[in-house]
Amino acid sequence: MAEIVVGLGENSYPIVIGERVMPSLGSALNDVDFPEKVAIVTNPTVGDLYCEQVIDTLAASGRNVSVIRVPDGEEYKTLETLENIYDVLIERHFDRYCGLIALGGGVVGDMAGFAAATFLRGIPFVQIPTTLLSQVDSSVGGKTGVNHPQGKNLIGAFYQPKHVHIDVVALETLPKREYASGLAEVIKYGIIRDPEFFKWLEDHRELLADRSADELTHAIMVSCQIKADVVENDEKEHGVRVLLNLGHTFGHAVETLAGYGVVKHGEAVSIGMVMAARTAHKLGYCSVDDITRIVDLLSYFDLPVIPPDFTVADYLSVMQRDKKVKDGKVRVVLNHGIGSAELHQIDHLDKHLDELLT
Ligand code: NAD
Ligand code: GLY
Repeated sequence: MAEIVVGLGENSYPIVIGERVMPSLGSALNDVDFPEKVAIVTNPTVGDLYCEQVIDTLAASGRNVSVIRVPDGEEYKTLETLENIYDVLIERHFDRYCGLIALGGGVVGDMAGFAAATFLRGIPFVQIPTTLLSQVDSSVGGKTGVNHPQGKNLIGAFYQPKHVHIDVVALETLPKREYASGLAEVIKYGIIRDPEFFKWLEDHRELLADRSADELTHAIMVSCQIKADVVENDEKEHGVRVLLNLGHTFGHAVETLAGYGVVKHGEAVSIGMVMAARTAHKLGYCSVDDITRIVDLLSYFDLPVIPPDFTVADYLSVMQRDKKVKDGKVRVVLNHGIGSAELHQIDHLDKHLDELLT
C-alpha cells in the first residue's frame, strides 16, 4: 500500500493506493475526521459490484450509511441528475455535518464532487475511483462538475476531496474499452512530463495490457504523483495545470460531436493527443519518431488514433467554446518531443484542421 499526499495547505489530502485496500477505508476516514452520516453516490453497475464492501467498512467504522444511485453513463452527467441528488439529500435531512462518498468512475466522481461542493455551500466528500481513468486523473485535483448540451464540463467548481482511496483490484471487472481509455491518460503523463515513465510504459505494455497488479500500482502511483505535483503548483489552472489538458481540446470536440458517451473520454484524448502531436510536428516541436512512438503505444492498447470525419466547421464550432479560448483565439497544449509540453495559440486553425482531417 502506498500513500501520496496532495499538499494544498488546509485542503491537503491523502491518496491511498494498493491491492485490496477497500477494507481500510473506514479507518482512513476516521484519520481525516470524516463525518459520521454519509451517503455513497454510485451507479447500478458499480454499486452492484462494490457497494456492499464499502458499506461494510464504513459501518465497521461506526458510520450511518445510505446510498444514492444515479443512472450509469456520460449522458447522465447533467444538471438534472444533480438535482435528483440534492432532492435525496434534502429528503434524508442531510446537514452540513454529513459527507458524500463518490464510488465509481469519473462521471460519478465529477457529479458527486459538484454536489458536495454546492449542497449547503459545501459538505466534505471522498473519492473511491473504480475506473483506471478516475484513479489516475479525475479523482485527484478537485475538478468537479457536469456537462451542458453545448459542451463538456461547462458547469463546475474546484472542490478538493478529503481523501482518495484507490483499490487496483476494482480494475479486474472493468470492461476492456474503459481500461484502455484510462491508459490514454496514463500515457498523457509520460508525454507531458516524464520521458522515463513513457519509456517504462513502452517496456511494460504487455504486463499492463494483462492488468498485472504490480505494474498497475506503479503506473497509478507515478500518474497520481505527477498530478499531485501539478495541482500543488497550480490548483486553479492559471498556469502549469493547463498542460494536463494535452489532447483535450481536440478530444472534447470529438466527444461532443460524436454525442456524449459514444466516444469514451480517454479514447477522445487518445485521438486528440495524436492531433496535438501532428500539430506540434508541423510547428517544429516534435519529430516524426516522437509521433510514431505515441501512435504505437496508444494503438498497442487498441486506442483510436484517427479523428472521426466531422467537418472543419463542426470541429471549429466546439473548439471555439473551449475553456482555454482567450480573446477569441483557440489555444491548444502541444507536446515538445516526449516529456514536455506547452500551451500554444493556434492561428489559422481552420486551415490546420483541414490538413489534420485529410
Ligand atoms: P465512467 O465514469 O462513465 O465509467 C465508465 C464505465 O465503467 C461506466 O459504465 C461505469 O459504470 C463502469 N465502471 C466503473 N468502474 C467499474 C468497475 N470497477 N468495474 C466495472 N465497470 C465499472 O467513465 P470514466 O472514464 O471513469 O470517467 C469519464 C469522466 O471523467 C468524463 O465525464 C470526464 O469528463 C471526467 N474527467 C474528469 C476529470 C477531472 O479532473 N475531474 C479528469 C478526466 C476526466
Ligand atoms: N484532467 C485535467 C485536470 O485535472 O486538470
